[in-house]
Formats: sequence, C-alpha cells, structure tokens
Amino acid sequence: MGNNVKVYKGNVIFTKTPQEFEQLEGGYIVVEDGKVKEVAQNLPEQYKDAEVVDYGDKLIIPGFIDLHLHAPQFPNRGLGLDKELLPWLETYTFPEEAKFKDTEYAKKVYSRLVRELWKYGTTRSVVFSTIHKDSTKVLMDLFIEAGLGAYVGKVNMNRNSSPDLTEDTQESLKITEELLQEYSDKSPLVKPIITPRFVPSCTAELMKDLGDLAKKYDAPVQSHLSENRGEIEWVKELHPDSKNYADVYDKLGLFGQQPTVMAHCVHVTDDEIKLMADNGVFVAHSPESNYNLSSGIAPIRKFLEAGVNVGFATDISGGHAISMMDVIAGAMKGSKMRWVYLEEEYASLSVPEVFYLATKSAGRFFSKVGKIGSFEEGYEFDALVIDDESISDLNPRSLPERLQRFLYLGDDRNIVERFVSGKNLPEPKVY
Ligand code: GUN
Ligand code: FE
Repeated sequence: MGNNVKVYKGNVIFTKTPQEFEQLEGGYIVVEDGKVKEVAQNLPEQYKDAEVVDYGDKLIIPGFIDLHLHAPQFPNRGLGLDKELLPWLETYTFPEEAKFKDTEYAKKVYSRLVRELWKYGTTRSVVFSTIHKDSTKVLMDLFIEAGLGAYVGKVNMNRNSSPDLTEDTQESLKITEELLQEYSDKSPLVKPIITPRFVPSCTAELMKDLGDLAKKYDAPVQSHLSENRGEIEWVKELHPDSKNYADVYDKLGLFGQQPTVMAHCVHVTDDEIKLMADNGVFVAHSPESNYNLSSGIAPIRKFLEAGVNVGFATDISGGHAISMMDVIAGAMKGSKMRWVYLEEEYASLSVPEVFYLATKSAGRFFSKVGKIGSFEEGYEFDALVIDDESISDLNPRSLPERLQRFLYLGDDRNIVERFVSGKNLPEPKVY
C-alpha cells in the first residue's frame, strides 16, 4: 500500500456505460495519489490500515462537468430571455462583457461564479471569458485557487461586434499566444483553450491563425455551432462558398484537428453530423439555453447513434441556472418532446444515459488532463457526497432512484463534500 491512500465509504453510484448504473451500497472507494485505485463492496485486505472516511447512508457520485459556460455572463442570469440569440447578444451580452476591461469588477464577479460552481458540484468546466487578457488571468487564477478543474478561453472577436469588443487581429492573436505561454503548464487542473466566439465574430484570417496556435501549443478549441436559424443564415451570407457552418471551422483547422467542443449544434445537417463524428468533435448540449432563447431542441439521440461525443452544459447566461442537475433534467425533458413532436424513431434519453453524458462522456474532453467522470481504476477522484435526507420519503428506495430524485429535486444544500483529484475542496473565497 502506498503512503498516499485514502478510503471513502458510502453508497457509491456511477456509470461505466450509458446503459446502466454501477452501484455499491455501503461500498468502498480506494483513492491513491488523488486517483481511484479500486471500488469494492468489501475493504480489500491490503488497505485495512488505511484511513477510512465513512459517509454512512450518503451517496458518493462523480462530480458534474459543464462543457460550456460564459463566466462574464454570470451577472445576466435570468435576464433578457424573451429574446432570440442575436438581439440578446446585442442588448444584454455584449454590454455586460465590455465591463470586464476592469479587472476589479472581474475579480468580484468571477469569484462569485467560482464559488457557485463549487456549491453546485461542478468540478470541471469549459469556460469562455471575454476578449480581455487581464480579466481572463483573474478567472484562471481563481479556478486554480479554488482547486476546481477548468479550460478557460480568452474570447477572440474581430468583426460584427460592439466597438469596445472588436479586437485588432494581430493584438487578439498576440494576447492569445501570451496566455498559452503563461498558462499551458502553470497548473495541472486549469488550462487555456482557443476560443473564437463564433463564425460571425471572427474573420477567416483570425480563425486560421487561431487554428495554427491551437496546433502549435497543442491546445483544445471551443466555439458555437448552429444554435439559431438567424445565425445560420448569417454564416451562409458571410461564407457563401462554404458547404455549411461546420465546414467553415473545419477548413480553418478548428474542427477536431485539436480536441474541439462546439456549443449547441441544434440545427446541424446530416453532413455536419458526419463530420463531427469523423473528427471526434464534442457537442456541448445546452438544453436550458436552447429553450430560453427559442433556439430549439438538439437531436441528441441522433448524435449518439452517429457516434458523436456529447456532454452537457449550462451555457450561462443563455441558460439561467448554474446547476447541472437542472441541465440534466432539461435534457431528458427535451428528448421526450422531440420524440413526441418530431421523430418517433429516436427514443428519448434514459436516466443512466443522461448521467453518463454528464460525467464520463463529457469527461473525455479532458483526456489531456486525466481520466475524468467515473470511478473506474485510474480516474481522478472527482466526487460529490450527497445527503438526500431532505428529499427522501418513507419508502425504501434503490440507489438509482435516490440519484434520479436528487437530479430532479436536489440542489446545492444536498451536496456536502466536493473532491477534485482527491482533494476535498473548501468553499472558495469571494472578493
Ligand atoms: N453565440 C455567440 N456568442 C454567444 C453567447 O455568448 N451565448 C450563446 N448562447 N451563443 C452565442
Ligand atoms: Fe454559449
């Protein structure tokens, strides 16, 4: 037995596959150097002298992963949601993002955001900041201080934006590269990610050079794809020679040439789905945002059948709630509405499936950082301890039933501990 071993006991539940839960009532998780060594019903003999933390009747589940959110939009949660994407960006989003020129403001907002992610058990996230270098550094440093895992991207935009958010192309690239240099190896948990906002806000020249930077620094890429019909029409006008929206990114080296996550993908064509599957592009499915901004319901079952990687996301503040539990329940509801109204041939999503998508499936986007999203051997011990007593009833319930109810009725008050890479994280400081 190594020195750095800890054992956690409780009702362990997670998903190795989308089909079913792995579950151990009163089971043990052996953690060595922050990684899961073993999950067992009985404590293996060689660990009998290890320290055991007993969580009694509580649940132990993998931490949640949010594959797409906008940190500077945290103050806008719940606002402007009677608009569609493009007017919403103009009236609410861009004016708020412009404020992050001020790093003091950034530190106040971002420290509150990071505390909220901690509260709701989002142990890893993939985040847009703004165009501003110093505020982006503030955000990355706050994630590092909190011990939460994140990819954080300084946003690039050099066309069709408000004047105070329109960058000079060379300056945009220079700042992006400086952040890649400074942060690629600064922390094992928090890394930079290349972040062209979306096709309408970036010239082909900028996007091509960002693709080159992603390659040079072996950095992942995030952006938006086919969220809203007006947006898609606009991309067609801007790039009449491209086959489709995805093709614009693909030709510029931003579509799976490096690990890539595209938010939304609500209205993608069959050709685009095939390209996503072939290139290993991840979809950050953001159901709450897609309902709020009248974007639509993404065809998740179709993605899964085509072999596309899928995870879930809040898309704060298109999505109003920071809780991944709300997003998971929202994804289930949307899949049922698609089945009822649009396509009986694609079954709605099951509970183990949505839990798998929110944990192990999304976790594969972090493969350069480690194995994330499960309790199989070698996975980072990213875990939540759930006290569901306040939402229990008088009947005995199975672990999958208790987990399901937590996803629908639970909130931050039910989450009593949060671990990332084996470290039990204290509440982050707010400035
Ligand atoms: N497309 C481009 N920018 C944004 C954004 O900030 N939010 C959403 N939901 N879609 C976008
Ligand atoms: Fe978004």
